Amino acid sequence: MTALASEIDRFNRLSATWWNAVGPMRPLHVVNALRQDYIGARIAARFGRTGPAPLAGIRIVDIGCGAGLLCEPFARLGAQVTGVDAAAGNVAAARIHAAAERLAIDYRIGEPAAALRDDERFDAVLLLEVVEHVDDVDGLVRRAARHVAPGGLLFVSTIDRTWRSFALAIVGAEYVFRVLPRGTHDWRRFVRPRELAAMATGAGLALADLRGMRYLPVLHRASWVRDTSVNYIAEFARGDGPAPPAAAPVVDAAAEKEIPCGS
Ligand SMILES: C[S@@+](CC[C@H](N)C(=O)[O-])C[C@H]1O[C@@H](n2cnc3c(N)ncnc32)[C@H](O)[C@@H]1O
Repeated sequence: MTALASEIDRFNRLSATWWNAVGPMRPLHVVNALRQDYIGARIAARFGRTGPAPLAGIRIVDIGCGAGLLCEPFARLGAQVTGVDAAAGNVAAARIHAAAERLAIDYRIGEPAAALRDDERFDAVLLLEVVEHVDDVDGLVRRAARHVAPGGLLFVSTIDRTWRSFALAIVGAEYVFRVLPRGTHDWRRFVRPRELAAMATGAGLALADLRGMRYLPVLHRASWVRDTSVNYIAEFARGDGPAPPAAAPVVDAAAEKEIPCGS
């Protein structure tokens, strides 16, 4: 078990608000186009896909999918999408929304260890804004890595554990600008890029990209930045695939700021 019961209860209570683009999930709505474009482009590049439907048939699992904010756009692009979430309320909201949108998405309730078969493999595994809400980060990353097919990718986004993240992601976001409900994050659960990289490489993956994301709370805008000291996303690759991973960036242990934002 990697989930925190208190966190799952909290997410269940928020499940009805998930698709409200100006509600408590507003930051996820704001970053959605940005991360969809980035992840979609990285998957297409990895599998040498071009043309009008580069994700057609690509198998994607979104672990901790919430009510499906990212499952839906990828399903629209032709990917075969599975969504897994430990909060039953979120999965119920996801199913209702997908049905209304006439999208075929395989939603499952539970932690990945229970909801996914041991032998299920995906071209891309997404673990976005989840690891900072769990009890056993290493266990969840290992579990996610296990479902990456040969040649496949794992994307993990989360928040670095720095004084800047305390000031911006907790004090700023929850108390000053109130873009997130108070208590959304516990600074001690934030994960340093170096720690995340060690977990994923320990699970047999190689770091392929690392970049920061800046969220401007007043304007509700997001952009990619080189600085990973608050929000960031990491891409990991299983090497035995269709193409070698791009030159792996080195995480600068001192500054944690080395980010070759390749494409
Ligand atoms: C902050 S939300 C992120 C939702 C989505 N990934 C996104 O970025 O739009 C975190 C989600 O992870 C789910 N979650 C937390 N721990 C989990 C676990 N161990 N297994 C599966 N889902 C989990 C929560 O229920 C919640 O829906």
